[in-house]
Amino acid sequence: QPHHKFAEEKADVDMQQCRAKGAAPGLKVAVLGAAGGIGQPLSLLLKINPLVATLNLYDVVNTPGVTADLSHTNTSTVVRGFGKEHLDAALEGVDLVIIPAGVPRKPGMTRDDLFNINAGIVRTLCEGIARSCPKAVVNIISNPVNSTVPIAAEVFKKAGIYDPKRLLGVTTLDVVRANTFVAEVIGVDPREVSVPVVGGHAGITILPILSQVNPPFTFTKEETEYLTNRIQNGGTEVVEAKAGAGSATLSMAYAAAKFADANLRALRGETGVVECSFVASEVTELPYFASKVRLGRSGIEEIFPLGPLNDFERKGLEKLKGELRSSIEKGVNFIKGK
Ligand code: NAD
Ligand code: LMR
Repeated sequence: QPHHKFAEEKADVDMQQCRAKGAAPGLKVAVLGAAGGIGQPLSLLLKINPLVATLNLYDVVNTPGVTADLSHTNTSTVVRGFGKEHLDAALEGVDLVIIPAGVPRKPGMTRDDLFNINAGIVRTLCEGIARSCPKAVVNIISNPVNSTVPIAAEVFKKAGIYDPKRLLGVTTLDVVRANTFVAEVIGVDPREVSVPVVGGHAGITILPILSQVNPPFTFTKEETEYLTNRIQNGGTEVVEAKAGAGSATLSMAYAAAKFADANLRALRGETGVVECSFVASEVTELPYFASKVRLGRSGIEEIFPLGPLNDFERKGLEKLKGELRSSIEKGVNFIKGK
C-alpha cells in the first residue's frame, strides 16, 4: 500500500519537524474504525484538538484515503494511517484508544442484534491493545456498549493487564441528547444545561436523572415522561430517520470528541474533570454501571454515587437492572465461555 507507507513516512518527518521546532511532545491517540461513519468526523475533530500531537487512524478499509485527506488540514496534529495488518503498529505508545469499529443498526434492530458481529471485532482490537499499549485509556463506542465494555474487560483480564480505571464506555451521546432536549423544554442555551444520564446505553437502561438538572428546574409529569422517552429512544429516532443508511454518526463524533477531550485534559493534569461513563462500578449491585466519574492522570479517579432520585427515577432504576445485568453477563460469557 504505497499511500499508507507514504503517510507513515511523512508522519515521521513531521514528527521530527515538530521536535526541531521545540514543540512539547503531546498526547498520542488512536481511532480504531477510523474510516467509518463515526470514525471520519471524530478523527477530524481530534485533528483540530491541540492536545492531540499524534493521531493514528486504523481501519480494515480505506485508511489511506482518510489519512491523506485529513493530513492536508493545517493543524499541528500529525496523522498516520494504518491498514488491516498493522493494528499493533497503530497502537504502539498510544495514550488514548477510541473504538468506534463495528456495524451500526438498521431500522427494526436493537443494539443487542449487533452483538454477533461487534463482539468479535472488539475482542480482536482489545487483544491488540493488550499487546501494544496496555497502559492506554480505552473509550468504547461500539455497540452494544452494555456488553462490549465487559468484553473488553475480560480480554484485558485474560491478558493480565486489566485496570478498571482505564476502561470507559462512551455514553456521552445520551448526555448530549438530554442536554439538547431539556434545553428545548426549559428554553435556555443547550450549552448551559447539564443532565446526568446513568445506567447503560440501550433503551430503558438509559436513565436520565432529570431531577438533578442544572440549572435547577422542576418538570411536570408529562415533561418528565416525554423527555425520558425521547432520550431513551434518541438512537432509534436517528436510525429510523436514516432509513437503513446507519445510525448516529455526526452527533456521536461530537460526543466522542467531547469525551476524548475530557480524558486528554485529565491525562494532562487538569483537575475537576467530570463526565458520565459506563464503567466497572460499585454504585449499584451490578458490576458495570454508568454514572458521573471524575477523570485524572491515570483514568477514572472517583465514581460518584447516583445522588437523590425521585420516585419516577427510582422505578426506572429498578426496571433497568434485569436487562442491564443480562447484557453484561452476555459480554462476560463471550470471553469466559471460550
Ligand atoms: P460504520 O459502518 O459507518 O463504520 C464502522 C467502521 O468500522 C468501518 O469503517 C469498518 O471498516 C470498521 N471496522 C469493521 N471491522 C473492523 C475491525 N476489525 N477493525 C477496525 N475497524 C473495523 O459504523 P458507524 O456508524 O461508524 O458505527 C460504528 C459503531 O458505533 C456501531 O457499532 C454503532 O452501533 C456504534 N455507535 C455507538 C454509539 C454510542 O453512543 N456509544 C453511537 C453511535 C454509534
Ligand atoms: C445511538 O445511541 O445513537 C447509538 O447507540 C446508535 C444506535 O444504534 O442507536
